[in-house]
Amino acid sequence: MIKLIVGIQWGDEGKGRASHFESKNAKIVVRATGGNNAGHTVVANGKKYKMHLLPSAIIRENVNCVIAPGVVIDPEVLISEIDEMIKADISITKERFHISQRAHVILPHHKQLDGLYEKLKAKKIGTTKRGIGPCYSEKCNRTGIRMFDLCDPSTLKKKIQESVLLANTMFRQYGEPEVDVEEEYQLCINCAEKLKPYICDTQFILMDADEKNENIIVEGAQALYLDLDHGDYPYVTSSNCNASGTASGAGIGPTKVDEVIGVMKAYCSRVGEGPFTTEQENEIGDSIRELGHEFGTTTGRPRRCGWLDLVMVKNACFICGLTSLCVNHMDTIGKLGKIKVCVAYEYKGEQIGYIPIDRENCTPIYKEFDGWELEDGITTYEDLPENARKYIEFIEEYTKVKVKYIGIGADEKQTIVK
Ligand code: IMP
Repeated sequence: MIKLIVGIQWGDEGKGRASHFESKNAKIVVRATGGNNAGHTVVANGKKYKMHLLPSAIIRENVNCVIAPGVVIDPEVLISEIDEMIKADISITKERFHISQRAHVILPHHKQLDGLYEKLKAKKIGTTKRGIGPCYSEKCNRTGIRMFDLCDPSTLKKKIQESVLLANTMFRQYGEPEVDVEEEYQLCINCAEKLKPYICDTQFILMDADEKNENIIVEGAQALYLDLDHGDYPYVTSSNCNASGTASGAGIGPTKVDEVIGVMKAYCSRVGEGPFTTEQENEIGDSIRELGHEFGTTTGRPRRCGWLDLVMVKNACFICGLTSLCVNHMDTIGKLGKIKVCVAYEYKGEQIGYIPIDRENCTPIYKEFDGWELEDGITTYEDLPENARKYIEFIEEYTKVKVKYIGIGADEKQTIVK
């Protein structure tokens, strides 16, 4: 059984928790796209774990974890995450943790370029400055460094020389310090020493698990509206983080996938720039931010907050071929008393139910719901207050996709299976 878990808003929907819940019965959990621009927090057994590159299932010792070809890896960040886990008594061995030889490596010049591009752009994207875009650009340019190259000192220096060529031209042009090839080479050599045991051909591992009918979970990063093709370009990340891109990043064909779970919040949040039709730049947005602790795991930036946009969710159901939904933060939104949900846009004098390319020109049309208070210790759907159930059932009715999980708190135990 192969399941994909993808974000269907602008990221930070709680994919880590959904994946952690699903991974209970999995043999392998795969991280397939993006890099350490992602961040998830998992609260399990009263402990909080923050991860950027490692799949959240790393804390389940009976689950094997894979970082697949579609990911871009900052090797220093990965090493420090591995060290943190080892400190927390989580065993990370080459038997249970695998990094694809094909995954690309983020180097210091990518991070420097990320900052420079942001400075030069008229329209800032508000990237995480983790070097994600420049690393993927070099990958497309066929001058990138892969994890495989890290382990081959005979060709590594030459490859780094090629890789920094464009970057150094830019730095020279804009008066920034040029990258020292020797420094990047040494960094790679040092990191390779630590990461080498885990670097392998992950394709073989997934094919083998599938042949044995073992459960594989692929954990998406970012979300549909940050997708390079289907998001709010140019305010997007540099990978295809929709469901098909996630499967492809892992090395899994579409017909091999059995389930696709779309993770969303009961409201919307976004970091960085870009259109946000239901944004509430007022006390409602402030309340959602406070109640939902909406500050970035990766950058600590306060997130922009607003009402749930079901036009986006419905579009996501089709693009990602969702088979079910996971709705998080039902505890948060219920506290707002009166809640609004966007059910259509007004665009050029018409009411529409799709997302036009210039969606900044859309005005939301809302339906209003009454809020709810959740009692402690709720474990079943029937225990939820009637207003909360009405909200969930409206989402199902609007999208024609079933809600499978409902998040009612930060701890993974506070998940209702519908
Ligand atoms: P980049 O991925 O660092 O290039 O950033 C591009 C855009 O995607 C920016 O608006 C970021 O804030 C946003 N972004 C990237 N990764 C995440 C994520 O995991 N959650 C939320 N936003 C993200």
